[in-house]
Amino acid sequence: MAIEVAVVGTGWVGGIRTQAAADNPQVSALHIAEIRPDRLAEMKALVKPKSATLDYKELLANPAIKAVMVSTTPEGTHYQITKDSLLAGKHVLVEKPIASTEDEAEELIDLAEKKKLILTVGYSQRFNPRVAFIRKVIQSGEIGEPVTCLSSRNVTVSLGNKIRGRTKLSLAAMEATHDLDFLLWCLAPRKPIRVYSQVSGKYLAKTHGPGAPDHQWIMVTLDDGTTVVVGAGAILPVGYPNYCQTWMQIVGTEGTLSVDDSHHEVTLNTRKNGIQYPMSSMPGEYVMDHTFAGPMATETNYFIDNITRGKPVMVKPKEARTVMDIYIAADISAERNEPVSLPRNARLSDLK
Ligand SMILES: NC(=O)c1ccc[n+]([C@@H]2O[C@H](COP(=O)([O-])OP(=O)(O)OC[C@H]3O[C@@H](n4cnc5c(N)ncnc54)[C@H](O)[C@@H]3O)[C@@H](O)[C@H]2O)c1
Repeated sequence: MAIEVAVVGTGWVGGIRTQAAADNPQVSALHIAEIRPDRLAEMKALVKPKSATLDYKELLANPAIKAVMVSTTPEGTHYQITKDSLLAGKHVLVEKPIASTEDEAEELIDLAEKKKLILTVGYSQRFNPRVAFIRKVIQSGEIGEPVTCLSSRNVTVSLGNKIRGRTKLSLAAMEATHDLDFLLWCLAPRKPIRVYSQVSGKYLAKTHGPGAPDHQWIMVTLDDGTTVVVGAGAILPVGYPNYCQTWMQIVGTEGTLSVDDSHHEVTLNTRKNGIQYPMSSMPGEYVMDHTFAGPMATETNYFIDNITRGKPVMVKPKEARTVMDIYIAADISAERNEPVSLPRNARLSDLK
């Protein structure tokens, strides 16, 4: 049975989710909320929703709406809108990060459990076929026991500026969170036991002041001795808006898997703009109305389809809570220049 769905925050990624939901035959009616009147008008003209409002609470008061996607910035808004949505009896997909603090995340997880509602987090990279292939290969045992896994991700400075301008959350929380999530998913049931992290910054500090990191490396040790290394950087020159370049390498006792997710397979070179890499953003983008390059449309449709069918979703909020533990440990480690053991005693509030 088709359901009515709402998107709160229709900026970059909320715009993608809105368009995907509008095309989904399981959606009987679409509703949107956006506080920027110009963007609300733009999305209204594009997808012709059943209702469009500046105030998301109007949507929550509508009992016909069964599911809400929370795609707002700044990230500090996620907790309250998600909490309000759960209290109103809606299933929720919230973009990462699930919340700003451990207490907030735990409260949301408990609330969803109590109200028997689906709460899931936008870890879109699990819907990237290359990432899913890593999980398939590791779980099949084809490369033996995993020994070490690397994911090195860099995005453009335009994204670095956008992120830095709206949140104090680190590159671990904002960018590496995806890689930490999917590598733990690929390596399940192994658990993280120790985290070490360092940051480096020379470029963004010129715009955002001393201490603004350009890059963060995070090393995580798992309980079976596997090491995971994740790097997140945000100062690549702008060759294409929101360009993202990632290299991944999994070394096992019986083989190795390398994944080039640098998006160099399509190169557009023009006199006006030089070399560009279309279809290279992390969530993906519509190429034409009927085709989407990237994981986010699939992830959006998966959320809607599973709710419609009454099936559980893949990304559990407790997994997002574990990832939060790791990135907070990484930030504490980088600040103190020492490894942090998990489970840790220190809370986010211990950071300066
Ligand atoms: N999964 C991914 O690959 C991926 C990629 C980029 C960003 N993200 C995450 O997605 C979220 C959105 O990022 P973005 O880049 O689209 O941001 P954005 O700034 O482009 O869009 C956010 C929108 O939310 C709106 N908004 C803020 N408060 C609101 C409210 N109370 N009610 C209604 N609308 C409100 C803003 O006006 C804005 O248009 C962030 O949490 C970000 O971390 C995920």
